[in-house]
Amino acid sequence: MEFRIEIAPPEIRRPKPTDESALGFGRIYSDHMFTMRWTEQGGWTDPTVRPFSDLKLSPASLVLHYSQTIFEGLKAYRNPEGNINLFRPRDNAARFNQSASRVDLPQVDPEIFMRAIRELVELDHEWIPKSKGTSLYIRPTMIATEPYIGLKSAQEVLFFIITGPVGAYYQEGFNPVNITVCDRYSRAGPGGLGSIKAGANYAASLKAEKEASSRGFSQVLWLDAAERKYIEEVGSMNILFMMSGTVVTPPPGDTILDGITKASVLELLRQWGVPVEERRLAIGEVLGAQRSGELDEVFGAGTAAVISPVGSFEYRGKVYHVKNGGTGQLTKRLFEKLTDIQYNSSSKKPDRFGWVHEIPLPAASGAASQSDSSKP
Ligand code: PLP
Ligand code: COI
Repeated sequence: MEFRIEIAPPEIRRPKPTDESALGFGRIYSDHMFTMRWTEQGGWTDPTVRPFSDLKLSPASLVLHYSQTIFEGLKAYRNPEGNINLFRPRDNAARFNQSASRVDLPQVDPEIFMRAIRELVELDHEWIPKSKGTSLYIRPTMIATEPYIGLKSAQEVLFFIITGPVGAYYQEGFNPVNITVCDRYSRAGPGGLGSIKAGANYAASLKAEKEASSRGFSQVLWLDAAERKYIEEVGSMNILFMMSGTVVTPPPGDTILDGITKASVLELLRQWGVPVEERRLAIGEVLGAQRSGELDEVFGAGTAAVISPVGSFEYRGKVYHVKNGGTGQLTKRLFEKLTDIQYNSSSKKPDRFGWVHEIPLPAASGAASQSDSSKP
């Protein structure tokens, strides 16, 4: 498939942030985006890297009424050689297609997904921040654009990718966050959308997140919808508990996202010989472990959140501290190892899992002057 590359002229390029310590998450976008359109008759057409711009959408677009939309999240890191690292991007491509399948959106060829990301990060490589803890966040998204307000699957769809420099997802950075266990609302139910990255899941979580935030908590920890008894995940990350030296975490399933960061954490733990159990975990068991002093550490894992220590959690009006509320040893070790893999050059320091997909630094001005490319 021929990609069209439209380079943003200098007059519409925006200034890059100068203070990388103030990046935060999700408000700054780089100069280019990728778009590709799909129709039921014609399939995918017109893959284009173009200047970042607003979308033109009919107010009748199906996505605006029935939330037929999915997304992914991954990051590009600047390694010490100046090259670009992606972390397990093919897993994001695969999960994007699983998400698409569940909400009846079309499949994207993983090679096109990969190439679109490569073209974008090469072209906007100067937008990849350099300091520790920063990266270029990449957001592939698919939306149902067909104008029709009857309920049906769209026959016209847009796939786009935007990127932007980010720092820490939580205000706390790599410091313990306080979360609240929600037993009032549900985020995902059996047979629903919880196992995929559908926009609708996040809409379902917003009211609870806002209430939590107004009471000083960073995030909501969701319980299962049927019994409100078993731990599922946090709104933006998977959750893991170290109890009596064993790391316990709910398995991915119908209602829990199969997180790529968590899967990586589990592989590291197994490699280190730390006992791991992926099983259902009742909130009562965690409370019991906290009371008896056996709850050693709690942490979240996700692309945006990286590894996020949990200092305390609230359940039914009572706050439970995890040990002294600080960051546990294992949490720290995992954060360091994972970020070491993500930020380092795999050619200099091989990552034994093959997780890093390294893109050579584009020649100084090469990427910005190309008009098309027939690279695979
Ligand atoms: N759970 C939810 C609901 C998420 O949005 C995310 C973030 O993508 C995760 C878990 C972690 O998944 P991953 O590690 O693949 O980013
Ligand atoms: C990610 O971690 O990439 C996500 O998509 C989570 C989102 C809530 C920012």
